[in-house]
Amino acid sequence: MKKILVLYGSPMPRETSISTILMDYFVKEYQESHPEDEIISLDLNMEPMSTLPLTSANLGSFYNEELSDKYINLLKSVDKVIMNAPMINFNVPATVKNFFDRISVANKTFSYKYAKNGSSIGLLDHLKIQIIATQGAPLGWYPWASHVNYLEGIWNFLGAKVNPTVLLDGVKAEPLNTKSKQELLELKKNELASLAKEF
Ligand SMILES: Cc1cc2nc3c(=O)[nH]c(=O)nc-3n(C[C@H](O)[C@H](O)[C@H](O)COP(=O)(O)O)c2cc1C
Repeated sequence: MKKILVLYGSPMPRETSISTILMDYFVKEYQESHPEDEIISLDLNMEPMSTLPLTSANLGSFYNEELSDKYINLLKSVDKVIMNAPMINFNVPATVKNFFDRISVANKTFSYKYAKNGSSIGLLDHLKIQIIATQGAPLGWYPWASHVNYLEGIWNFLGAKVNPTVLLDGVKAEPLNTKSKQELLELKKNELASLAKEF
């Protein structure tokens, strides 16, 4: 039996969030093909940790047991993470960034000790990650912005093995902006189902 952490990272309301609808479908498909696995959910919107950014006033206490170790230990206790994230102002939502600020801790989730050429060694190398992302603009409109690159990059940096990301781009532009949520899900169902089966 494997333990799966489902991280809700969209600031949009759960019932209408496109990335959440896609992720919930992925999780449903995953559960059908892995019925013995245990699913744990964490909504970053509900976690005080993920709404408190790092500032000069809290640097000394930022990596404390309750707000940092708790989530690092959670990640160490699971085998796989499924997370969703829309692009917000050309990046991940602030809750998601704050989560990575809390869990990116030297000698806990990564180490520079044996690294060469400025690289590091990720200590979360037991984890498999599935990212499900959305963005309003079609891919390529703003080539300098990629929340997907950031997410894949930081999980890799932390040692995790990242599955191919599911990205639904262009939801705020033609032709997708007139489609219903169900129609948008239909566009990604096959991709989500086949990745979920193999995850
Ligand atoms: C406050 C806000 C900022 C956004 N910023 C961007 C952006 O910078 N680039 C982009 O392509 N889409 C942007 N979008 C569009 C969202 O990525 C898109 O609507 C997404 O589907 C919303 O999240 P959801 O998939 O969880 O519903 C933004 C949406 C909101 C509400």
